[in-house]
Amino acid sequence: MATHRIKIFDTTLRDGEQAPGCSMTLREKLRVAKALSDLKVDIIEAGFPAASPGDFEAVKAIADENRGPVICGLARCNAEDIEKVHAAVKGADKHRIHVFVATSAIHREYKLKMAKEEIIKSAVGAIKLARELCDDVEFSPEDASRTELAYLAEVVSAAIEAGATTVNIPDTVGYTVPAEFDKLFRYLNKHVVGIENITLSVHCHDDLGMAVANSLAAVHAGARQIECTINGIGERAGNCSLEEVVMAIKTRAEFFGLETGIESSRLYPTARLVSGITGMQIPRNKAIVGENAFAHEAGIHQHGMLQHASTYEIMRPEDVGISKSNLVLGKHSGRHAFRDRVKDLGFDLDEFELNRAFHEFKKLADKKKDMYDGDIEAIIMNVDNLSTGPWILKSLQITSGTDMDATAMLTLINESGKEFKKAATADGPVEAAFTALEDVCEIDLTLQNFELHSATIGEDAQGEATVIVEFKGNSYRGHGASQDIVEAACKAYLEVINRILRRKERGLDDTPDRSSMNRATI
Ligand code: KIV
Ligand code: ZN
Repeated sequence: MATHRIKIFDTTLRDGEQAPGCSMTLREKLRVAKALSDLKVDIIEAGFPAASPGDFEAVKAIADENRGPVICGLARCNAEDIEKVHAAVKGADKHRIHVFVATSAIHREYKLKMAKEEIIKSAVGAIKLARELCDDVEFSPEDASRTELAYLAEVVSAAIEAGATTVNIPDTVGYTVPAEFDKLFRYLNKHVVGIENITLSVHCHDDLGMAVANSLAAVHAGARQIECTINGIGERAGNCSLEEVVMAIKTRAEFFGLETGIESSRLYPTARLVSGITGMQIPRNKAIVGENAFAHEAGIHQHGMLQHASTYEIMRPEDVGISKSNLVLGKHSGRHAFRDRVKDLGFDLDEFELNRAFHEFKKLADKKKDMYDGDIEAIIMNVDNLSTGPWILKSLQITSGTDMDATAMLTLINESGKEFKKAATADGPVEAAFTALEDVCEIDLTLQNFELHSATIGEDAQGEATVIVEFKGNSYRGHGASQDIVEAACKAYLEVINRILRRKERGLDDTPDRSSMNRATI
């Protein structure tokens, strides 16, 4: 059987980042883009430049790094959006403009209030304009899976005639099922004029938990590009998970007769990076990259594994980048061993970051018996936030108990080295600590979300805290890690406070920044 190459189009930085709580700073997006290039995705959809000035800058910065994959930006069918995408992506040697318009009856009637012919006209005009600016143009008929088949074939034929080089078929609301999607792709292959000259693509959402299955049905029926995200993050229930779809194609190569160019040993580090940055925890039982994905608990399974791994294991952990030994370094480990481990975990730190991380590692290793990969990851996720000021947490004392209010007493140091002490009382210790922080820093934030997660196993594990707060219409996310969970929460809160104060210093106080609330909506 001939093997067909499937292009992997990653939209973590566009559809993924659009999800509530997943917005990223410019620096974080650049880190993810670098990880995606190392993973060897074919196309990175870096954002939606018309959504906000911040989105434009991020897409441009990613394109200007020109790391290898095609850099793509999303546009609605209007000249302003398309020109913005072109201005943002043109720095990359290989770039793409992705235009979309909804085609289903529901969207035509209720959202766009446009007739069928008007939609075709709008798509054709947009594709022609995009082709004047760029040779690589993708077109998506949004909500394709709920569009009348004959009309869908008509739209796609017109898009190809107008110059689209890739046509993407989205299951925008995660409504289809594999057998139905298979039929849709076979129908398009039969009825669309010129379909043999373009790349047919698939883009699935996971509302019914079938995004990966539907994407596989589409490639089985002739699609040659899959749009997906790391850890399946994305609108509502998310998108097709990149790591799952890639490993399904690799593990079942004899069935699909397909291959991707993905460096599968980079899957786990990339998944951890995206989870650490977005604060979207990976469920323990998540396929491919969950902590339990390769753990064998039942005695009968362990016995089988000892006889031969293939009894209960269809993939090897190292194929997806999970190291065999999780117990890694201790307090006697040197900088060299630490650097190697950081690299093995898939992180690329500069000398300055590495020194900071090593310093934190040594501090923690003095207190903690066993240092696991998760401990190192937690340190690295927070390396950006260490001592970046203007405020630094010097000490924190908590009194709390049953049937009493909690009191937090903390000391902060400002940029000039002056110490400020404050005590606050509240129902719980975290609230008391946050109130004291706000009082010292003279700022009033609204906490939108607070999550706590154990970085590793064991009683002495570090707690990783993620907070999302609102300040003057912008959403900010902060991370903190410590063996003391109230201290971890404080670090996360202080990271946000420091970021807001630094923005203020740069005169950006009231400027809408990266909040999805302020974005143009699709
Ligand atoms: O889900 C969807 O339809 C999309 C398109 C913009 C491709 O994300
Ligand atoms: Zn989507």
